Amino acid sequence: MANVNAGVLGTGHAYPEGILTNADLEKMVDTSDEWITKRVGIKQRRKAAPGEYTSLFAVRAARQAIERARIDPSEIDLLLCATVTPDQILPSTGCLIQAELGANNAAAMDIVAACSGFLYGLTLADTMIRTGQSRCALVIGAEILTQYVDYTDRSTCVIFGDGAGAAILGPVEAERGILAARIKSDGRFAEQLYSPGGGTRVPPTAETIATGQHFFKMKGNELFKVAVRSMTEISRDVLEEAGVTADDVSLFIPHQANQRITDAVASKLGVDDARVYSNIAMHGNTSSASIPIALDECVEAGRIKPNDLVLLASFGGGATWGGVLLRW
Ligand code: COA
Repeated sequence: MANVNAGVLGTGHAYPEGILTNADLEKMVDTSDEWITKRVGIKQRRKAAPGEYTSLFAVRAARQAIERARIDPSEIDLLLCATVTPDQILPSTGCLIQAELGANNAAAMDIVAACSGFLYGLTLADTMIRTGQSRCALVIGAEILTQYVDYTDRSTCVIFGDGAGAAILGPVEAERGILAARIKSDGRFAEQLYSPGGGTRVPPTAETIATGQHFFKMKGNELFKVAVRSMTEISRDVLEEAGVTADDVSLFIPHQANQRITDAVASKLGVDDARVYSNIAMHGNTSSASIPIALDECVEAGRIKPNDLVLLASFGGGATWGGVLLRW
């Protein structure tokens, strides 16, 4: 198929009802609302209740995206679920979502790229659609991060939250949809944000659980600089590839990792506050779910209009990063 781009045809998001506020965290670890607000920008985050699992919210977000795209689940031929908190090791969460949706004609799989997972998914779906391999892709970012958070470690427990976001993509005319998409990684940063136990290297045992080896460990301070640099560089790359500048961007939706990271990247790119979307105060960092949740909130609020140029950028554990530029 010649001269088509992949465009977003519908979006959706969902999250648990449970809310964990900074005041709640003040009772659990030595922290304060003032520190969290000033250093990260978060006021509250969603927290799944016992018995709630990743695909539950992924399916809800996906159903919304499917309805808004006015398609039938049987039309979906590619289903990508970005997550680092799968329902279970086998099968993929993508396959579990596929069965729940009745998307029986899809090839379903998971993408493990941490906070960049959704942009990895958009990039792969874009390639599959432009080459005619796919005509209808469902890309999801979904996480229950709070199950992997150590609520005695103040440097990580204040940051992460739960949720899911989804987008349906299909062919659109060549001037619209995804104009440029890039993904990158550097495994030399692997131990800056990782979960040491629970895999084949440190198999799960009573001892690894008791010593919290399945919890996320993060060297946040070191990652901060890499995050700002990588997100800025990859944003410039996609803008250049599409032959536009930051002045042309209508809305910048970065991964919601830290308000100071968002502010630093936007400032380096020259995108003023009015064109930057932030929901970190309400959701915290939801890893792969953060960009699709934010995107759907912007759609619902009417902040994105036809023809708008929307820039997405992410950075996450791995390290991984990505940039996607869309003409809405
Ligand atoms: N409440 C109060 N104090 C805290 C705290 C908390 N929740 N968390 C850390 N501190 C303390 C530290 O113990 C340290 O104290 P010390 O100076 O006495 O040792 C001090 O605050 C500074 O710690 P530091 O880690 O340098 O803080 P920071 O300003 O870098 O903020 C992060 C920490 C994690 C919020 C920040 O580094 C960050 O957002 N990093 C990037 C994360 C990222 O991009 N991850 C990948 C994508 S998800």
